[in-house]
Amino acid sequence: MKRSHDCGKIRAQDEGTKVELLGWVHRRRDHGGLIFIDLRDRSGLVQVVFNSKDADLHLKAQDLRSEYVIHVKGAVVKRSPETVNKELPTGQIEVLAEWLDILNTAKTPPFEIADPRTEPDETVRLKYRYIDLRKQKMRENLVFRHKVIKAMSDYLDGVGFLEIETPFLGKSTPEGARDYLVPSRVNPGKFYALPQSPQLFKQILMVAGMEKYYQVARCFRDEDLRADRQPEFTQLDLEMSFVEQEDVIGLIEGLLKYSLDALEKDIDLYRGKNIPKISLPFPRLTWNEAVGRYGVDKPDTRFGLELVDITDLVKESEFKVFRAAPLVKGINIKGGEKLSRSDLDKLETTAKGLGAKGMAWISLSADGLKSPIIKFLKPAEIDAIVKRLGGETGDVLIFCADTFKIVHAVLGELRLELGQKLNLVDQSKFHFLWVTDFPLFEYSETEKRWVANHHPFTAPCGRWDDLDERFQRDPGSLRAQAYDIILNGTEIGGGSIRIHRPEVQQAVFKMLRLTEEETKRRFGFFLEALEYGAPPHGGIALGLDRLVMLLAGMDSIRDVIAFPKTQSAMCPLTGAPDVVDPHQLKELHIKNVL
Ligand code: AMO
Ligand code: AMP
Repeated sequence: MKRSHDCGKIRAQDEGTKVELLGWVHRRRDHGGLIFIDLRDRSGLVQVVFNSKDADLHLKAQDLRSEYVIHVKGAVVKRSPETVNKELPTGQIEVLAEWLDILNTAKTPPFEIADPRTEPDETVRLKYRYIDLRKQKMRENLVFRHKVIKAMSDYLDGVGFLEIETPFLGKSTPEGARDYLVPSRVNPGKFYALPQSPQLFKQILMVAGMEKYYQVARCFRDEDLRADRQPEFTQLDLEMSFVEQEDVIGLIEGLLKYSLDALEKDIDLYRGKNIPKISLPFPRLTWNEAVGRYGVDKPDTRFGLELVDITDLVKESEFKVFRAAPLVKGINIKGGEKLSRSDLDKLETTAKGLGAKGMAWISLSADGLKSPIIKFLKPAEIDAIVKRLGGETGDVLIFCADTFKIVHAVLGELRLELGQKLNLVDQSKFHFLWVTDFPLFEYSETEKRWVANHHPFTAPCGRWDDLDERFQRDPGSLRAQAYDIILNGTEIGGGSIRIHRPEVQQAVFKMLRLTEEETKRRFGFFLEALEYGAPPHGGIALGLDRLVMLLAGMDSIRDVIAFPKTQSAMCPLTGAPDVVDPHQLKELHIKNVL
């Protein structure tokens, strides 16, 4: 079939041109003598007019309905000034139809495509995803995603990276989520695990001498889902040999700068305004600073409301709640006076939901201090606290006294809620940020052992020959050569320098209390590879869905994935996951016990 033009690209300069178009009937208006069609293809819309002067053609056009697929020939004519449509890029012209072929009819769609305001329930959108994707916004999102991947691939190709695919059918990897398992028919009782990431394969590619690898890699994790989590998602995954942390950070900064500059026009279109170009280097915070000042390891630095430590000021206080707590921190809600009593009560409820015992507050109103706790504090203590938090008339100070973990979890979350509620978030910029110097291990209360914070292949900071001793002394104080990249408060990537010496890797497994037998069974192949001349190496993986979502200003990664799953990991379009025939289970030597 011959198409001379894309619908959305015809302009006034094309006046008089004969065009041949293919697409869908987006809208149809029947004005008696004239039938107007908005014809849609991937590039956009153009108006096609059927005039009753051509009676046969006009009769045929009367059959057209929404989403019919048609082939039209006609001539481009300028619209009269009063009929120009300023909303459409093709609004200066229309196509006067001369010939029509209906290629296919369509049932009435289950929801409106032409009107973006009618948003059906997400399950319906996902069930009829092929219709949902016909919407302009969704189409733009997929085009944009393609461009992001293209820009990144171009950049990496330009600096010597090879795209190499790694297997889906593999062995369990150590990212810490649950695996999706695939039974093996030819190996009864044995299972593959779908990769949570290509971590071990990409390290093995470094042992194999590939030096610079990347992949647009699908990862599978059976975890509880949220707006920015999917059971299968995509990483821009990479690994490099003979590098240190600074090399990987520098590469990613260059990659993001190149990609965002290349996509500047698209991003402006999305955001409807000129977002300033990003400048390098990105700011950095150590993990200690990030958690200390913002309560979380992925801080949204687009607004203030930082956490301030007042533990030392209340050490001797008569207020037992403060005196007895290991840590007391506060936030100065600038101009917080405008919060109502019920707003403060809601904050306290949130705090308690996160494990706090309460949320004390002091309101610095013009007619004096108001607070449920001033009766417990001496005037000098109050003065010192107000001064430390930079409190001024009109501010409200809130406090949490508890363990390190709870104080930061609570105030970190309240800070985010307040940022939203008080409209403090600067939407006009992309705030990229590195968080570095993560703890190597964290203590798992459920497993009653130390677990790897990133993954167990991450290199410890400092010397590697006294690791054991440092671990025995204070496991929590060990730091990792690991780095996360944050965009507007969302973790969009994480990586590390790896351990490339087998004896060090083995020592770390031991610290994680993996038995020799377990280490051998799960990671023996990998330890063996390290014994054959593994170069120093490191890498990172960017969460591509999250990155595209944020650049496009979407709220959910499902809006930038062609066929995402629901919150309950279902695919309403295909009905997956589904039951299977008993004979399939039999072949796989599996018994359904449900
Ligand atoms: P990590 O587990 O931090 O690192 O993952 C890297 C990035 O992937 C994104 N991400 C997700 N996106 C959507 N849905 C999910 N369920 C999901 N889980 C993670 C995040 C995250 O920052 N192998 C290491 C990387 C390395 O060390 O090189 C890894 O996978 O944006
Ligand atoms: P109480 O004496 O328990 O009624 O607490 C007095 C005030 O202190 C109330 O406003 C509580 O919300 C607050 N409060 C109680 N426990 C804590 C805590 N651990 N951290 C911060 N504020 C608290």
